Amino acid sequence: MGVADTFRESWATRTGFILAAVGSAVGLGNVWRFPFVVGEAGGAAFLVIYLLFIVLIGLAAILVEFVIGRHTDLNPVGALREFGGSSWRYVGGIFVFTGIVLLSFYAVASGWAIRYTLASLTGAYMDDPGAYFGSISTGWETVGFQLVFMIFVVGIVAFGIRRGIELAVKVMVPAIIALIIGLIIYAVTLPDAGEGFAFYLDPDLSVILSEWHRILPDAAGQAFFTLSLGMGVMITYASYLGEDRNLAEDGGVIIGLDTAIAVAVGLFVFPVLAAAGAQYEEPGAGAVFVSLSQAFGDIQFGAVLGFVFFFVLTIAALSSAISLLEVVVAYLIDEWGLDRKVASIAVGSVIFLVGIPTALDLDVLALYDALAANVLLLLGGIIMVVLVGWLQSEKALAELEKGIDDIGPWGNVWLWTVRGPVLLVLLIAFVLAIIGFVEEVQGFIWG
Ligand code: PFF
Repeated sequence: MGVADTFRESWATRTGFILAAVGSAVGLGNVWRFPFVVGEAGGAAFLVIYLLFIVLIGLAAILVEFVIGRHTDLNPVGALREFGGSSWRYVGGIFVFTGIVLLSFYAVASGWAIRYTLASLTGAYMDDPGAYFGSISTGWETVGFQLVFMIFVVGIVAFGIRRGIELAVKVMVPAIIALIIGLIIYAVTLPDAGEGFAFYLDPDLSVILSEWHRILPDAAGQAFFTLSLGMGVMITYASYLGEDRNLAEDGGVIIGLDTAIAVAVGLFVFPVLAAAGAQYEEPGAGAVFVSLSQAFGDIQFGAVLGFVFFFVLTIAALSSAISLLEVVVAYLIDEWGLDRKVASIAVGSVIFLVGIPTALDLDVLALYDALAANVLLLLGGIIMVVLVGWLQSEKALAELEKGIDDIGPWGNVWLWTVRGPVLLVLLIAFVLAIIGFVEEVQGFIWG
């Protein structure tokens, strides 16, 4: 049914592809979620387990999506139909649905980031950070900032792969890296910085041993979320790639950069919190916004730091959001022959509307988050892993080998990692995610 089989876009350069994938991976997940998950889950102990998951599972899982995408040169729905057989297209439909739900509330939180960037100029959040977060996190003004963010996302995606996404990430990703380096250099000079580094970098083995049941699922979920896995982003991006690329090499670079940036953000956040004498463990969505903005109010040049930090958060969110929209837009272009601009505006509008309830009520936002970021991404991951690892493994292995000179035993190592440990971890995390989602729904209904 692929309507648009005459011309399909592709990346202009290898760097373009890598930066787009890194841009997708580095987002609210790295700059906002990562530090508060680390804080909640015990600091350095969590970091150790997280890094272990990234190495053991991240690379194998990202290659699963790359292989499907490059083999089929299609959007996730078409790709699963080609790769698995015609009824698999319905499974691909789950990814499109996940993309819509995920971006709908991701845009709301990104709108907060824009708001905080602007508020750094006036210091509006410094007097009473808790009350400030409460006042801007919901309401019709929040909807306004959500809309502004969505206009940027649609604006980039409408211009296509080379002139839209590739151009944008070539500016945004280097900017993110340069600014974070600048922030760390300042953070190192803060009084009490060492205390923050100790919490973050000095793992306490007894915490790992006593808290493993909490740390393991959080670390697995975070590893999956941060690499943008489970809803076909990496299928879509790899579908614009040529046959001659070494997927394993590119995957390694992408994962390395995403991890380095997440870890680097912590090197800024924890010293700043330590210097302001703030709590690391404050839980919940508002935690980083509230405790960091409090800290910015307490330390020297806090307003400048705040501006740079929230600006980084905003562009990191933007470079991820475009990948979420691209999944849905690519589906409409490939399968229904829609014009890119029309598709981008139409889908962007629908996603904006779907997200409005989350801009009006934080409990609804938490519900969308628990459904999309946990349950649906993990479900998508399980489906792809079964398809590639167990049902179509010969095809998958042959695809991986293209562009790799001498794969030796590594092809089979990859296959068995996917079949065994990756699938097992995803299944366990999925069960826990369902439990978490049910609790969230109950909490929502009973208040
Ligand atoms: N990786 C993004 C982040 O860390 O913020 C979030 C994300 C984007 C998750 C795209 C999933 C996805 F498909």
